[in-house]
Amino acid sequence: MDDLIGAGDVDFVSACSSLLPMHTVSDMIGIDPKDREAVRQAAEALFAGKEEAVSTDLDSLTYMASQVELLRNAAIEIAEARRRKPQDDLMTNIVQAEVDGHRLTNEQVGAFMILLSSAGNDTTKQTTSHSMLALARHPDQKRWLLEDWDARIGGAVEEFIRWGSPVMDFSRTALRDTEIRGSHIRAGDKVGLFYCSGNRDAAVFENPDAFDITRTSNPHVGFGGGGVHYCLGSHVAKTQLRVLFHELLTRVPDVEIGEPVWLRNTFVHGIKHLPAHFPV
Ligand code: HEM
Repeated sequence: MDDLIGAGDVDFVSACSSLLPMHTVSDMIGIDPKDREAVRQAAEALFAGKEEAVSTDLDSLTYMASQVELLRNAAIEIAEARRRKPQDDLMTNIVQAEVDGHRLTNEQVGAFMILLSSAGNDTTKQTTSHSMLALARHPDQKRWLLEDWDARIGGAVEEFIRWGSPVMDFSRTALRDTEIRGSHIRAGDKVGLFYCSGNRDAAVFENPDAFDITRTSNPHVGFGGGGVHYCLGSHVAKTQLRVLFHELLTRVPDVEIGEPVWLRNTFVHGIKHLPAHFPV
């Protein structure tokens, strides 16, 4: 925030949205602050290949593989250190946890880091950009929120998630035969889940295509529908959004937001660039 105040013209995505999520994951995992930026860039690379080529001399696949390796090794290094010398932190818990008498291997700790870097990064980042854009286009709602922040921010964050729906779809495999609105699904069938469609369901939401932080009922499926894969980081994400928007809206209330450049992607609902002016 200190860097943003008085910054003039910036791309809100690179100057703000893309910073907090991986800093949070890095802090949770125990990454040394001096390595935080390298880890953040590696996490960004996981999605960078989706639309445009990554600008590097190496070809994009080799580059992506090297960044995956960086994330994996960063977590394994900390896991090994915590096995030798436990501390009161999350990684110590991860390496000491036992399931059916087994502890996680380095390979599994590394895979968990990749999971956090993909699931915990682009999601909150995109929600931040979508919400900033929506609040700028609805100054009346921004004012309403600021009038009673503590009572209203909880509902507002739920609407940020529904409106942004950064994860648009996943496929899941049916475990047993079932029927959904007349469609027969057999055990073993792959089923496409469209969270973005569920979040605009006119049978569930009044005025589903409107951004409205005053909704009193908001049973969105932005974090999943409540099954075993329900978003593990939903509370982290909501806390990040709550804290970040408090700083943004109270410390720099008069930011001007320009026209977004959308990401062309069928999985992530994304904004690549969002011009912003932070008054000097
Ligand atoms: C606004 C932010 C976020 C959104 C919209 C989001 C959305 C989702 C969705 C839709 C799923 C699949 C749920 C299902 O199919 O039932 C998921 C899973 C997951 N999310 Fe998030 N997520 C967000 C933030 C985060 C953060 C910050 C983290 C970690 C720090 C995280 C970690 C995970 C993990 C590990 C899974 C896999 C859970 C499993 O398969 O058991 N997510 N998320």
